[in-house]
Amino acid sequence: MVTWMVFTRCLVLNLSDVDAFGLTLPLTTLMVSADISMESQTPAPEANQASTTGAMRWTVHVEVRLKPRASSRFDTIRNLVHSYVTSFERLVLPSTLSGWEDIPELLSSVERISVCEAQCPTASLKMEEMVIQAHVYQPSDGDAFEEFSNSSGSRGEDDDTMAASICELPNRSYEGLWDSLIYAGDIKMKLLDYIHATLVLSDANVDFNLVSWNRVVLLHGPPGTGKTSLCRALGQKLAIRLSHRYSHARLLEINSHSLFSKWFSESGKLVQRLFNNITELVEEEDGFVVVLIDEVESLTAARAGAMAGTEPSDGLRVVNALLTQLDKLKTRKNVLIMATSNLVKAIDTAFVDRADIIQYVDLPSREAIYEILRTCLCEMILKGIVASVTIPTLKQVQMYELVSKVNGRSDVADGQERSRSIGLRLLALAFQCRKQGMSGRALRRLPVLALARYIGLGNVGLAPGPSSSSTQPTAGRSSPSVSVEIWLDGMEKAVDEQAKEAEHLT
Ligand SMILES: Nc1ncnc2c1ncn2[C@@H]1O[C@H](COP(=O)(O)OP(=O)(O)O)[C@@H](O)[C@H]1O
Ligand SMILES: *[C@@H]1O[C@H](CO)[C@@H](O)[C@H](O)[C@H]1NC(C)=O
Ligand SMILES: *[C@@H]1O[C@H](CO)[C@@H](O)[C@H](O)[C@H]1NC(C)=O
Ligand SMILES: *[C@@H]1O[C@H](CO)[C@@H](O)[C@H](O)[C@H]1NC(C)=O
Ligand SMILES: [Mg+2]
Repeated sequence: MVTWMVFTRCLVLNLSDVDAFGLTLPLTTLMVSADISMESQTPAPEANQASTTGAMRWTVHVEVRLKPRASSRFDTIRNLVHSYVTSFERLVLPSTLSGWEDIPELLSSVERISVCEAQCPTASLKMEEMVIQAHVYQPSDGDAFEEFSNSSGSRGEDDDTMAASICELPNRSYEGLWDSLIYAGDIKMKLLDYIHATLVLSDANVDFNLVSWNRVVLLHGPPGTGKTSLCRALGQKLAIRLSHRYSHARLLEINSHSLFSKWFSESGKLVQRLFNNITELVEEEDGFVVVLIDEVESLTAARAGAMAGTEPSDGLRVVNALLTQLDKLKTRKNVLIMATSNLVKAIDTAFVDRADIIQYVDLPSREAIYEILRTCLCEMILKGIVASVTIPTLKQVQMYELVSKVNGRSDVADGQERSRSIGLRLLALAFQCRKQGMSGRALRRLPVLALARYIGLGNVGLAPGPSSSSTQPTAGRSSPSVSVEIWLDGMEKAVDEQAKEAEHLT
């Protein structure tokens, strides 16, 4: 009851600037617990809710990224950030904070402080409605990359294909990946909630004979919808959020294709050896291991092939080796297995049955497409390629759309008129992309195609010198940046052309 009141009140307050997907949270998540903290000594959720006003308090995660060579103690930074953040009266969720540069210790070590999405349905919260949890992390940016291949020890002739690779998390190249992925449903929260649920049950030491799970998540859907990226991003997120519990985290990516095709007759043994190594990694109790089995159908389709009589024993051996090894891992607390597939029908049912979560990742909806294209344009505005302009958020443009449907024309101020028409045009483009069933991957390359074919490289000034990689808009560029309307033109043409090409393919 209380929860519902909070919900309604905040909703009314912030309707104008609600975050794009802030309202799509299913009510069920509201009713469960506001606390997705992952600390071992977490107070029970009820304790969190019992604030003086009787209102619910939401756990808000604040991620603090350190500079590559910062040497401050994480504890020190965490305390400084905590007192800095709690000095705010209200925080916008999600947002990136500024102003901490005035504190010398933070200025010298910190690169970025961001307030993450919370389960709360509103776009901002007052300090007394929040419990702040700061996570300090320093992504590794080296090339510390271990490979695992058949040839034990001496790699030589065949190091072009590797069966698996290991990298340290958090990894600098996965920074920003989580935020860049946009889905219509609340897939990302759902995955985090699943992890939290397993942690709560593990901590309570429930009898695994009575309540058990397999630590396997399966993502499936059409190619290019961000499945592989989501697995990596989730690994990165967990490494950051679980840093209280685990001193380090690793991501082990298994390339099912090369594992199976290259050493076909050896694959069963190789899977076994691979998982022996994984078991070794998992035995370090202060390390968290995320295993990503990419395009798992090439491993587990084996049984169907075996039934058809092509390679009777080998295919079966691989599947059975995999299943046996998965079953051995499920009692470990510090492992998560994520599998992706473009073709879930081809997967062995025994494998599918082991997945705790089977999540379909669909082609992006019109709304998700709008956000993907908007973030593309915003990035190019930030880098000075597109002339500066305000592109409305999804919520704003939906408001514009609603108003123009009701009374044909809206009465916005002159300055807003341009932004409104840009937004509506982008929304129309999103609808076009949706009709063609474009994937996230195809959408993210639209700007390149538009530039190459329709805008003309001559019109976009390349910044002189190597400064083009800097994050500042390049001030002294020789030619001016191109207006967003020209970019919209180019992207519309590129989409039309893709539609024609698609006809040839079918
Ligand atoms: N839903 C999405 N939101 C944002 N970007 C996406 C989305 N889906 C795909 N992309 C883009 O497409 C790229 C390829 O995605 P990938 O994870 O390889 O897809 P999959 O594994 O499903 O084939 C990603 O790096 C990302 O830039
Ligand atoms: C893989 O290793 C096995 C022994 O473990 C060996 O017999 C086989 O030839 C190796 N295959 C390749 C391609 O290196
Ligand atoms: C980080 O990820 C990239 C890309 O996957 C990889 O090349 C690099 O080696 C990784 N770094 C570390 C320290 O694991
Ligand atoms: C895998 O385990 C073997 C021994 O079982 C070891 O020699 C090898 O270095 C390990 N590989 C990785 C990548 O950990
Ligand atoms: Mg993939």
